[in-house]
Amino acid sequence: MKNEYMKATALAPSNIAFIKYWGKKNEDLRLPVNGSISMNLSNLLTTTTVEFDPDYKKDDVIFINDDLDHSVGEKRIITHLDRIRSRAQIKVKAKVVSKNNFPSGTGLSSSASGFAALTLAASRAAGLHLFEKELTILARLGSGSACRSIPDGFTEWLSGNSSETSYAISIYPPDYWDIVDIVAIVSDDKKEVSSTEGQKLADSSAFASLRFSKINNKIKFLKQYLRVKNFTKFGELVEAEALEMHAIMMTSIPSLLYIMPESLKIMHLVKKWMTEGYEVYFTLNTGQDIHLICQEKNRGKIYQLLSEISEVKQIIVNKPSKGARLLNEHLF
Ligand code: DP6
Repeated sequence: MKNEYMKATALAPSNIAFIKYWGKKNEDLRLPVNGSISMNLSNLLTTTTVEFDPDYKKDDVIFINDDLDHSVGEKRIITHLDRIRSRAQIKVKAKVVSKNNFPSGTGLSSSASGFAALTLAASRAAGLHLFEKELTILARLGSGSACRSIPDGFTEWLSGNSSETSYAISIYPPDYWDIVDIVAIVSDDKKEVSSTEGQKLADSSAFASLRFSKINNKIKFLKQYLRVKNFTKFGELVEAEALEMHAIMMTSIPSLLYIMPESLKIMHLVKKWMTEGYEVYFTLNTGQDIHLICQEKNRGKIYQLLSEISEVKQIIVNKPSKGARLLNEHLF
């Protein structure tokens, strides 16, 4: 028996965390130590088609224009398919074809867009019609940050204390605030330690307990700045938060050094541009690529300044975006 419903395609954005997720209180369930807040990115996208077919003898995972990398490896994808199969009570094997419009494994959160797109496409192809909350819970089990790529716009991942209570919600729609995230890609080298592995070290930092004891207050402030659209306070906090996460990484045992010379150069330039009157803040995850956050009015200038830096290989401009959605056109 072959049904058209056994095939579905989804598009999902990556997201940039303003309050970061770094450390789990439950590895298997991917329950984070703390809640986090992010914005979906309009131009960092994964498209994934999943087809369950009784004729397939094994699961087949194909990445177009990309190598499999250790953050979204084949084994993790098949484990995720198993979760969805068991939920849908089917045993059929699948073909998965996925493509990113950006380099993966360089700190641009390809696991977020990847697992969000996979969750929506695979669950629908398996005949499930899940509510948004259930989709975010399922996406979280694939990769924590992926749960924030399911709802629209600005999202909050509520840390919770069980699988059912750890999910993401939209706190503002994409058109709430016209801020821009300009990504500067400085290298397409893959990071050496994946987020999953790196996070296991968070607790070994002497500063981890300090960070975790103050994080709820930080979340409160960030939400307040978002609510009143205070860009300066917001940007300062976002930048400080990125550096605090990197302080935890750097002081882990063994230490993790994700910041590369090229990213550091841009961080210094951001500080300089600020003194010249262009308001812009940086944030970065587990890779050398760096995100610059500015208001729409400064977008052109920041783009121009970035394009004059020889180390910058590619610039991707993102607005706040909708979350994961189904597409009618399939990749195969
Ligand atoms: C630094 O979501 O990739 O980007 O749950 O193990 O897949 P796993 O980790 P992942 O970690 C993302 C870490 C981060 C910060 C963030 O996006 O909040």
